[in-house]
Amino acid sequence: MKQDFLPINGTDHVEFYVGNAKQAALYYQHCFGFDLVAYAGPETGVRDRASYVLQQNKIRFVVTTSLQPTSEIAEHVKKHGDGVKVLALWVEDATKSFNETVVRGAHPAFAPQTLRDEFGEVVLSAIHTYGETIHTFVERKNYKGPFLPGYKPVKSTFQPKSIGLKHVDHCVGNVELGKMNHWVEFYEKVMGFSLLVTFDDSDISTEYSALMSKVVSNGNGYIKFPINEPAEGKKKSQIEEYLDFYKSPGVQHIAIATDDIIQTVSELRKRGVEFLYVPDNYYEDVIKRVGKINEDWKELKAQNILIDRDEEGYLLQIFTKPVQDRPTLFFEIIERNGAKSFGKGNFKALFESIEREQELRGNL
Ligand code: FE2
Repeated sequence: MKQDFLPINGTDHVEFYVGNAKQAALYYQHCFGFDLVAYAGPETGVRDRASYVLQQNKIRFVVTTSLQPTSEIAEHVKKHGDGVKVLALWVEDATKSFNETVVRGAHPAFAPQTLRDEFGEVVLSAIHTYGETIHTFVERKNYKGPFLPGYKPVKSTFQPKSIGLKHVDHCVGNVELGKMNHWVEFYEKVMGFSLLVTFDDSDISTEYSALMSKVVSNGNGYIKFPINEPAEGKKKSQIEEYLDFYKSPGVQHIAIATDDIIQTVSELRKRGVEFLYVPDNYYEDVIKRVGKINEDWKELKAQNILIDRDEEGYLLQIFTKPVQDRPTLFFEIIERNGAKSFGKGNFKALFESIEREQELRGNL
């Protein structure tokens, strides 16, 4: 087997550029059960921005806002609305990760730099991917602080109960018509990922909305990046709607794993998170399609959770509505019971649900 030139330990963090980081941080604390663990801003000597670091089990989100009208962050928010800027990858060697990918054609975002504070040192480097999104390589083996040098540990007076979100399962990118294969090749050639699965029209088109999708994964399978592009349909596809409002390719959804989706989703609902709705008749067909599972069908139906099966097992999943006013980024909650796939059997029901929402927004 070929040596993996880009070994990755997992997702290090996801950084969102937002209009109001103080309130976004509270949204993820209150609604999604994250702990506020670190902060950087004027009080810590950072003059141009404020960043809040939120953690739950292995998931780390950073929400960052600009303190000035003219900055890269402010421009990003103006153009895209709130969205994902950084999909950061945890590596053993951020310098080697940078060199190996740049020599294969990656566009550098910033060269390796070492940051130090009283907790040790971190090496960071970054390359561009689709749209304005970047991958930052984070080498933290010599660091004991809560996040990165420059961030101060924080203990919030608000201590939300964890809702059982465990780790990032996959992060999906939407790219322009005709660009999916370009980005699949980028991940294959530049980052050494391999193609896991392909979805085309026959899998995922409804009367109106169609898309093509390919999933790439790194060597150990910890990182999975599906890439979607719009396909011809009768009316505007959900990917086109995203591109119209995000104004460029970008992250469409982040899937987060839980061990108990019924509990997790009921907590999210209580806290005000909105989900896509599938009609009751979905459950009449799915019971036949999926067969025996450990969960109570009534509870799954009550929470509107979707089920799919592949050769290795089954999975339970549900999708939030967009988490900002533009119909762009949303989250998926997923519980895997052996299945390594992405819920292909649910695409039709899901897309019909998305189309109902698009119709309400006047974007179909
Ligand atoms: Fe997904």
